[in-house]
Amino acid sequence: MSLEYYRNLITSRFRDVNKVLMICSGKGGVGKTFVSTCLSQALRDRGLSVGLLDLDIHGFTTHRLLGLRNPPKILEEEHPVMVKGLFYLSPVVLVEERALPLRGLYKEKAVIDLLACVKWPRLDYLVIDMPPGFGDEVTIPMRYLRHKSCAVIVATRDALSLSVVSRLIEVLRSEKLRVAGVIFNFSNIFKLDLSLDVDVVGEIPLIECVERALSEGDSPYERCIEVREVFSKLAERIIHRAEC
Ligand SMILES: Nc1ncnc2c1ncn2[C@@H]1O[C@H](COP(=O)(O)OP(=O)(O)OP(=O)(O)O)[C@@H](O)[C@H]1O
Ligand SMILES: [Mg+2]
Repeated sequence: MSLEYYRNLITSRFRDVNKVLMICSGKGGVGKTFVSTCLSQALRDRGLSVGLLDLDIHGFTTHRLLGLRNPPKILEEEHPVMVKGLFYLSPVVLVEERALPLRGLYKEKAVIDLLACVKWPRLDYLVIDMPPGFGDEVTIPMRYLRHKSCAVIVATRDALSLSVVSRLIEVLRSEKLRVAGVIFNFSNIFKLDLSLDVDVVGEIPLIECVERALSEGDSPYERCIEVREVFSKLAERIIHRAEC
């Protein structure tokens, strides 16, 4: 199939989505998946219609942060599943917990397939949990969806994370993707005061209840009031900034 074919297919799949929020960070392990899932839940709790797409082909974990002990399998072809009031697509609903050791062109194709495989219903927001880095698996969705997307950067205030994020910002500019701002995670631990050329949306401290909830198979957002409070404020600010 030609690139043009996929471009048209993906455009039609996302036609009814008002705004895509791409949760990204040049660096791994800084809290993208935590932010993606909790932000989706907080937007849903404001009465909005929300989808969550896990594009982390190797490291998909949104189902764990949603507290899905038995993630549903995709039932109707071409439709996302509905979990906890969210329209949802992740490799886990297609291949369960199996590893997908894809490389190069196969990986590129898997990302395109995930973007093209379901028709999203009318959504106020579709949140995408992006993989770490800024390789093809990150730039491909940006290229297909740039016209209706905003990047939300997740970073920690430490020297290494901030240096990688500066490079990510360069990539976002060259991809012409709008940036809603940066969320600083683990803000009670990492405090380096170095400014980035983007607005700060908010900060999240390390919340102890999160790991307890995850180790018992629960959703931190559902179990921890502190998580809900932080994300209620973040959701409001993102709604405001995503109109960029
Ligand atoms: N503010 C927080 N308080 C407590 N735990 C947190 C917080 N933010 C993230 N975590 C935990 O830290 C770990 C790493 O977070 P997460 O998986 O969201 O990072 P990531 O950026 O998505 O990683 P990757 O690059 O591998 O996809 C997870 O166990 C997550 O639950
Ligand atoms: Mg992740």
